[in-house]
Amino acid sequence: MSRAIAIDGPAASGKSSVAKVLCQKLNLVMVNSGSMYRAVAWKLLQLGIDLDDTDSIIAALPNLNLQCGVDESGYFSTVGYDGVILTDELRTEQVNNSVSRVASIPEIRDILLVKQRDYLKSSDVVMEGRDIGTVIFPDTPYKFFFQASEKIRQARREAEGISDSVAARDKLDSSRKTAPLKPAEDAINIDTGLYDLNGVVECVLSHLQSLGWE
Ligand code: CDP
Repeated sequence: MSRAIAIDGPAASGKSSVAKVLCQKLNLVMVNSGSMYRAVAWKLLQLGIDLDDTDSIIAALPNLNLQCGVDESGYFSTVGYDGVILTDELRTEQVNNSVSRVASIPEIRDILLVKQRDYLKSSDVVMEGRDIGTVIFPDTPYKFFFQASEKIRQARREAEGISDSVAARDKLDSSRKTAPLKPAEDAINIDTGLYDLNGVVECVLSHLQSLGWE
């Protein structure tokens, strides 16, 4: 049976950076579930669909054909359409401003839930997102919830040169009805503002060891 490490938390809380190191140290696939929501938002924008028009969005879903895979290194999940993998397109201001609206639609979450769980069929994974510990893999014992002050998180995005209103996204993500951003009851909470990247990785690894991960 494959195992899943779930890392949830608000925008820019350090989930991706930590998961990237973990997947190589532990030899598992890192799945960035947010990139799936971003890819759906990107496609809907490309199609010129009004993102306030939920009926039109739902009508477009059967034709989206989002392809999820793993890159050549074998460590990182990919998303794309028609054989073309999307990368930088997913991090534009327009996508940042639209993705949480798209992610609040239950019909979209249902489609992506299946794709996220499918990864576990072929390997151990570290998956990061908002509802991985609460909805996608509620039975995994390896659950983490990252936090950091809003000031620190906004500064991280600005340092990356990305225009991203993390507070607005967090508000939408935390207040939506379906699969809101929140820690699973049994998640280990880590304040990533207290450590550097290596410190957070060491903290997660030591918790994993205590939980019996070998
Ligand atoms: O990397 P960052 O924390 O900025 O965000 P992300 O992981 O790329 O996720 C982008 C958006 O997708 C979030 O703001 C959520 O609206 C949505 N998302 C979600 O609803 N559920 C997930 N499991 C992952 C992302």
